[in-house]
Order: sequence, then structure tokens, then C-alpha cells
Amino acid sequence: MNQYISDNKDRFINELMDMLRIPSVSADPKFKQDVLRTAEYVAQKLTEAGADNVELCETGGYPIVYGDKIIDPALPTVLVYGHYDVQPADPYELWHSPPFEPVIKDGKIYARGACDDKGQMYMHVKAFEVMMQNNALPCNVKFMIEGEEEVGSENLATFVKGNKTKLAADVILISDTGMLGNDTPSITTGLRGMSYLEVEVTGPNRDLHSGLYGGAVANPINILCQMIASMHDENNHITIPGFYDNVQELSQEERAEMARAPFDLEKYKQALDLTDVHGEAGYTTMERNSIRPTLDVNGIWGGYTGEGAKTVIPSKAFAKISMRLVPNQTSAEITEKFQKHFESIAPKSVRVLVKPHHGGEPVVTPTNSVAYQAAARAYETTFGVKPVPVRSGGSIPIVAMFKSELGLDSVLMGFGLDSDAIHSPNESFGVFNFMKGIETIPMFYQYYAEMSK
Ligand code: BES
Ligand code: MN
Ligand code: MN
Repeated sequence: MNQYISDNKDRFINELMDMLRIPSVSADPKFKQDVLRTAEYVAQKLTEAGADNVELCETGGYPIVYGDKIIDPALPTVLVYGHYDVQPADPYELWHSPPFEPVIKDGKIYARGACDDKGQMYMHVKAFEVMMQNNALPCNVKFMIEGEEEVGSENLATFVKGNKTKLAADVILISDTGMLGNDTPSITTGLRGMSYLEVEVTGPNRDLHSGLYGGAVANPINILCQMIASMHDENNHITIPGFYDNVQELSQEERAEMARAPFDLEKYKQALDLTDVHGEAGYTTMERNSIRPTLDVNGIWGGYTGEGAKTVIPSKAFAKISMRLVPNQTSAEITEKFQKHFESIAPKSVRVLVKPHHGGEPVVTPTNSVAYQAAARAYETTFGVKPVPVRSGGSIPIVAMFKSELGLDSVLMGFGLDSDAIHSPNESFGVFNFMKGIETIPMFYQYYAEMSK
């Protein structure tokens, strides 16, 4: 298989670059045709790789690309999940080369979606081709590649609930996470959940002269800032009543185990140009960004932000707020607690509106399953070192539903690095990582099929 991989390396990369040229931004309707074109591209490549029953499954939003190869119903079935949509590329001016004109520089492919998730998803399509061409597919496989992960996967949730037979499998396999380093492979064993909402604070019924009215009426931006600031206390605990009620505390043993994963705080600060980190008192940086819940403002606006100065008290102020959740918080519970609290702390001088967006539940995956052990052996084979289990702070909303609706655990075989800058300007994916993924995935299939016997 490795001969086939090296013989076809350039073509694999070129095909990925072709997909990266299509700006499949699911959040912005302006890119609708491009998102649809990307779905067709994925379907075509799956067919070319040897998949049967390839189709675009219509949803209330962007289609889900499905395809499978059932070699023997008696053998186990791997269901591969990934996404072909990407985050918006804004701000464009901070990119060193245009986000949808991929270039390879210093061994990395630069483009929006290079790592998250086109590059990682495409490793699976190519790994499948490699196994097909070498008569080495050892079990059944189904592909389900969606186009709305970056906007909350709501239509996929409906699709999963309605297509349980079609999606019947033994394990879910996903590459949409990262690892600690190219010398320290890791397997993600947990994802945080999410509660995302937007708030609107309204003061006077129109924008006002800030001299004539300033000091006498509430400024919605000032009020919103105060309200947001009050949601963390001096220890950076979140002050929403009941916020931590269902948070599972880890035992000292579990925390000690976590602390064994290699982490260099100085390097971490250096990479981000920070003189200090910030977070909840009593927890390490690794804990703060994985096993603890958070509340963050993702965007805040209102009033005058154009050139020069304008003296104005705005009528309205807005913010987008996300809360990352951990077991056993639920997004419905936290959204409700936030809403109640936000309304209760608003002074009478303003009116507030809370608009919930999407949510997702946190998940922890087992490390004692056959699938996890197979994945660990696969990394060990291709990297030469055992991978470390690591809980991640990111979210993939559908993973918890794979468990609750299909009864399936996921194996999160990520090959990205923090330095890939997903969601940021100049996102990249190492050619090394892309090729390593294509090498490692067939090993997973082989070990998984063997160990399932
Ligand atoms: N692939 C990421 C999630 C991720 C990245 C998990 C790295 C672990 C490590 C995914 O595409 C993503 O960005 N998810 C969103 C959630 C979604 C509801 C917008 C997130 O985590 O912000
Ligand atoms: Mn992703
Ligand atoms: Mn993402």
C-alpha cells in the first residue's frame, strides 16, 4: 500500500487543492453554489475511489454526501464522518495568500479548510482508494460527509434520526481534530458541547446626540459591557446561577493522568505572543481548555465604528456569546440558565432580547474499546510511538448524537496541529500530516477488522 501512496502522492495533493479552490462557506448564503459544487466534487471523488451507492442526500439545507462499500454483511462496518463546509475566511487582508487559492509553502498547504476539514476528510477518501486498489479493504465502510458542521449540523441531526438503518455501523471514524505534535501523536477522547446565542440590548428608540442626552439615559453598549463583565467573578468563575450544577469534576487521579500529556506553557505563550495566560483559578491551562466550561464573547457591536468620530448614544448593542460545555451539562439547560440570568441582571433602563442559535452536547469517548485500541496501534505503527489520549476543547455537535441516536462510539483520529490555525487567517495543513493520515487510516481498518473477530 505504501508504494501506491508514494506513487500517487502528487495527485492526492492536487485533488485536495482543487477542492480547496471551491469556497464552501456554509455560514454565508453568498457561497451557496460553491457549497453545492463541493458536495458534487466529494461525491465524484468517492465514486472514483470505488464507493457504491454514492448520492447527495437532500436535507433542509446543504446535502449530505453518502457512499458505501459493503464487502460482506457479516464483517464489521466503519462509518466515516467528515465535513466539506468551511468557516468564513474573513478577515481576508490578514491572509498572506488568498484563502481559496491554495499554495504549498514550507511543506504546508495554505487555504481555508486545508485542515478543517477538507484536508482531513479527504485523507479518508484517499485511504479508501488505497485499500481498494490494493485489495486490502478488510471490512465494510460507509461515508457520510456533511456541509453544515460549521453552522451546527442541525439538518444532519434530523438525517441521522431518520436514517438509522442506512447508517447502521459498528463504529464511527472521524478526522476533524488535532494531535499534540508530529512527534507526539494523540487521540482525542472528548469534545466540549456548545450553547451559542445572540443578545440584543435596546435603550432609547433612536440613536441620540451624546452631549444632549449623555449621562441621562442608558447607553446600551455601556450596559451590555457591564452585564457581560459581571458574568465572570474575580476567580474567573462563571456567575450564572446553577451554571456548574451538572459539571462532572474529575478525580485527582484523572487530573494527574491528564497532566502527564506533554505541554509546555512557555511555548504555548510564545506561539500566541502572550506574557501570561488567563482562566479559571485552580485549573491548569490544559484543564481550562478541555474539562472546564467557558463563556466567551465572539463578537460585539453597536454604535459608530466608521472612520473618525461621531458623538452618539446608540439605540442598540449586540453580542454573540458561546458557552463551551462539559459532561453532564446540556445545551438546553445552559441556554435556559443564561437567558434567565441575562434578563434578570438587565437594568430597567434597557430592554434585552436573547436569541438562542445552535447547541451541541459534550462527549467523552472510551479508551478501552476495540476501536480505540485499533486506532492507538495504527498511530504506533506509522509514528513509531504510542499516541496519548487527550480531551479537546473543540466541539463537533453530531458526535454526541451518534452515541444517543445510533448507539455508536466515535474514534477521533485527528492529524491537525494547533499551528494549523483552523478558523484563523492563514489556515494550513502539513503535507506530512495529510500523507501520514492516508498511511495511518488503512492500518486502523486492518487492526479493527482483526481485533473485532
Ligand atoms: N473541527 C472543529 C472542531 C475541533 C477542532 C475539535 C479541533 C477538536 C479539535 C469543528 O469544525 C468546529 O470548528 N466546530 C465548531 C462547532 C460548531 C457548532 C460551529 C467549534 O468547535 O467551534
Ligand atoms: Mn471541523
Ligand atoms: Mn471548524
